[in-house]
Amino acid sequence: MCGIVGYLGKNGAKDILLEGLRRLEYRGYDSAGIAVWENSKIVISRSVGPLDALIEKTTAELLVGTAGIGHTRWATHGDVTEKNAHPHRSSDGKIVLVHNGVIENFSAIGKFLSEKGFSLSSETDSEVLANLIAYHYAKEPERENCNRFLESVRRALLHVRGTYGIVVLCADCPQEMVGARNSSPLVLGIGNGEYFLASDVAGFISRTRDAIFLNDHELVHIRGDDFSILTLNRERIAAVRQAVDWDLSAVELNGYRHFMLKEIFEQPKSLANAMRGRFFADGSTAHFGGLQMSPRELRHIDRIILCGCGSAWCACLAAEYLIEKFARIPVEVEYASEFRYRNAPMERNTLVLIISQSGETLDTLAALREAQRKGFRVLAITNGVGSSIAREADGGIYQHAGPEIGVASTKSFTSQLCIAALLALHLGRLRDLSYEEGTAIAEALRRLPQQVQETLKLSDSIRSVAERYRNCRDMLFLGRQAMFPIALEGALKLKEVSYVHAEGYAAAEMKHGPIALISPDCPAFFLACDGLTLEKTISNIHEVRARGARTIAVVPGGGTFPETTADDIIAVPEAHPAVQPILAAIPVQLFAYHMGVLRGCNVDRPRNLAKSVTVE
Ligand code: G6P
Repeated sequence: MCGIVGYLGKNGAKDILLEGLRRLEYRGYDSAGIAVWENSKIVISRSVGPLDALIEKTTAELLVGTAGIGHTRWATHGDVTEKNAHPHRSSDGKIVLVHNGVIENFSAIGKFLSEKGFSLSSETDSEVLANLIAYHYAKEPERENCNRFLESVRRALLHVRGTYGIVVLCADCPQEMVGARNSSPLVLGIGNGEYFLASDVAGFISRTRDAIFLNDHELVHIRGDDFSILTLNRERIAAVRQAVDWDLSAVELNGYRHFMLKEIFEQPKSLANAMRGRFFADGSTAHFGGLQMSPRELRHIDRIILCGCGSAWCACLAAEYLIEKFARIPVEVEYASEFRYRNAPMERNTLVLIISQSGETLDTLAALREAQRKGFRVLAITNGVGSSIAREADGGIYQHAGPEIGVASTKSFTSQLCIAALLALHLGRLRDLSYEEGTAIAEALRRLPQQVQETLKLSDSIRSVAERYRNCRDMLFLGRQAMFPIALEGALKLKEVSYVHAEGYAAAEMKHGPIALISPDCPAFFLACDGLTLEKTISNIHEVRARGARTIAVVPGGGTFPETTADDIIAVPEAHPAVQPILAAIPVQLFAYHMGVLRGCNVDRPRNLAKSVTVE
C-alpha cells in the first residue's frame, strides 16, 4: 500500500516520477505528490484524488529538475487531505521524504520532536519520520568518511518501530538520495546514467530492467554516478543485480479498456506459464525446481497449514480440497492475520505453505516468520519474483503470471489454483495416487489453457447476464465441495469491483441462515460444477427459486444440467475435478467485471482497496 518512487539522473524528473507513479497507482490512490529539485530548492506539489489530479496540477508547474521523489497514497494515519499527502518536509526545511508503511511509535517520537522545537503540520506518522531525520541531521557533525545525510537517516531509523519503505532528499545535497526498507518493499533500478528507487519494478520498467531488491534493514545511498548499500549497522552489502524479465507491454493496457479485463484474458498464457517445465517426463506427475525438499522429506509431511489473505486465502481453501483429495495429506487453512497471533499448536512434520501474489502482504509475511521462528519449514507460492516472501521462504514455486495491475486478483488467483493442482499431483504421486490417476490429472492440466480460451468466449453473454442483475443490492454465491472456494472468491470479486453486497456460502449451509435473505432483490449465483454433489446443488437451486429469487448457475457443458433449472445458465467446458474449479472461476471474474463496468465503478482501482497490503 502506497507507491513510492525516486529518480536521480540527467533527465527531467517530473515526467519520470509521474510515469512511475502511474504504474504504481494500484498500490494506493487517495492522493499523490512529487518533490523535484528546482533552482537549488526542493519544490513539492501534492493533490487529493487519483494521480490525474496531480498531473493536471503539475502541468502548469515547470519543475525542470533532474532529481525528485513521488508518492501515491493509501491513507493509514490522517484523512485524505492535501496536507496529509506525501512528500513531507521537515519543519526546518532540510529533509523531504516519501514513506510507505506505518511508524508505530510516531506519537512518542512526535512528542520528543516538539520538545526539540520541530513542528508538525499533518496528522501523518511519515511527517514525524522526516522531522526525526532532520533532528539527527542537525545534530550530526561533518565527519570524514561519513556522509552526514546518510548517517542522519540511519540514526533516525534506529529509533523507529514499525514498517517503512522510504526515499529521502536533503536540501543541502542536490546530487544525493537515500532509500531504506523494513517490511515495505524497495527496489533500486540502475539505468544509463540514472538511478531509480521504487516500491516495485513497475515504477521504472520503461527505463531499465537492471534491478537490486533491497532487504529489510538496508539503506541505499545514491550519490551522483555512484551508489552504495549498507545495513542499519553500517555494514557494506555487495548487492546482487538482477535482470527483470518483464516487457513493458505487461504493464500497459494494449487496447483493453481495463487491466482487469486484460488480465482475465491473459489467463490461457498465465496458466501455461505456471505449468511450463513442470511436468515430469513420464507424464504422470509434476516436479518443481525450488521446493528445496527431497522426495523423502515430502513424504514425511503429515499436515499442511495454508496461509494467505484475500483472494490468496480463497486459493488456499481451493488448494485444501485438491491436496486432501489427491495427496491425502490433512490440510488446514488459516487467515495469515489470525495465524500470526494465534500460537497454533503444530505437529513436528507440519509444512506451512504460504500463498501470496505480491509476496509482500504484511500479515502473510508475518505468518511466514512466525512459522519459521518456531522451526517449521515454510514454502511459498508467489508471483512476486524477488519479493520478501520469495526471499524469506525456505523454498517455493513462482507463478510466472506476469505483473497484475488490476487491484482485484484474477489471473494470479487461477495461476495459484493451477500450481496447487500441480502440487497436489506431485505430493499425491509420492504417496498413493496411481500412475493412471496422475496421468489423467496431468493431461487435464495440459488441456486447461485451451479450455480457458474457450470459456473466455462467454464474455459477451456474461455481460448480457450482468445487465439483468446490475441493479441488485445483494447477491449470494453458493457452491459445494471444490466449488465452495470459488463461491467465496466470486462474492469477494463482486463486492470489490461493483460494490454489490455479496456473500459466499457452502450451498448446503444456505439453509442455516442466508436463505432468510433470499428475495426477488437478492439473486443467487450457483457454482454447480461439482459432479459428485450436482443433484444436491440442483435441489438447492430449486429451494432458492421457490422463494422468488432469480438464479444464475455456472455448470459443466455437455448437456447434463437440466436447462430450466436456473434463470441464467453459463456452461463452461467439462473437465477433470482437479481443474474444474479454474474453469468455474472465469465466469465469476467476468460477471464481477461486467457488473462493475455497468454500474460505473472503477474496476481497476476500487474505492478504499489497494493491491499490496503492507499494513496490518
Ligand atoms: C489485497 C488485494 C487482493 C489480494 C490480497 C492478498 O487485499 O486487493 O486482491 O488477494 O491483498 O494479496 P497477496 O499479494 O498476498 O496475494
